[in-house]
Amino acid sequence: MPRKIKNNWKVPAGRPLTEMDEIILDYQARGYLVPSRDLIKTPEQVEGIRRSGDITRGALDLVASEIKAGMSTEQINRLVHEYTLDHGGTPAPLNYEGFPKSVCTSINEVVCHGIPSDEELLFPGDIVNVDVTTIYKGYYSDASRMYIIEDTYPEWKRLVRVAKECRDIGAATCKPYTFVGDMAKAITRHAHQNGCTVVRELCGHGVGLEFHEAPDVDHYGVRGKSGMLLVPGMVFTIEPMINLGKRDVYEDCDDGWTICTEDGQPSAQWEHTYHLTPRGLEILV
Ligand code: MF3
Ligand code: CO
Ligand code: CO
Repeated sequence: MPRKIKNNWKVPAGRPLTEMDEIILDYQARGYLVPSRDLIKTPEQVEGIRRSGDITRGALDLVASEIKAGMSTEQINRLVHEYTLDHGGTPAPLNYEGFPKSVCTSINEVVCHGIPSDEELLFPGDIVNVDVTTIYKGYYSDASRMYIIEDTYPEWKRLVRVAKECRDIGAATCKPYTFVGDMAKAITRHAHQNGCTVVRELCGHGVGLEFHEAPDVDHYGVRGKSGMLLVPGMVFTIEPMINLGKRDVYEDCDDGWTICTEDGQPSAQWEHTYHLTPRGLEILV
């Protein structure tokens, strides 16, 4: 720490400093990473992201009511795709940097970015992450849930629960003028206390006007005030990928997307899109 100062926070010329400006400029002067002004959403933008989130939530609810053994992940893709279009939205993953489908479906040892396929069927005992991102009137909302197909091993059920707790415990630490790293430390502590590990190669992110905005929301803890300063009005995801075995992952070279655990042990992930208010995080979806 103090690293090279990045002057993200600028005050328009001739405008008196607000209390918020003074706090942020002080952190910035001390070398901490602070947001740029465009990461602070207006109330109107927050409402737009919330409306977008209603479609994302609806799609995830629909998946919850339909998902079952014998179904293909392509059928999940179609459910999400059609639901989104029917509600006036656009599925953000489709054609995003070449991603070929409208949703990510990640089974068992697949950590994230699984590509739906007609050939891939759901079996009893599978744990599946379905990750939905919707664009509605230009606003992006991003959320994912785990679905257990019928029933599974106690250890896998525990993993699914611990992953959700990690996200929620991390979210509960976020208050104005804390750091992304404070949140990450809480996640790592909870994962390790439960004998699980935290994936480092992928992170949460700012979201709303684009799919992936600043800041990077890393989920693994490091010493000190690391990551970006959190300021009211920021909108971002928390989406820790929690492994039952080792934290190491690799990318499937065949499709260029699918991320798997190195040791073949299962991984679980839950994601919300949050808005930071003066009192803490509000779930948008
Ligand atoms: N929804 C994922 C996230 O949480 C990103 C998926 S990118 C895609 O950030 F191209 F695979 F859709
Ligand atoms: Co997502
Ligand atoms: Co995300």
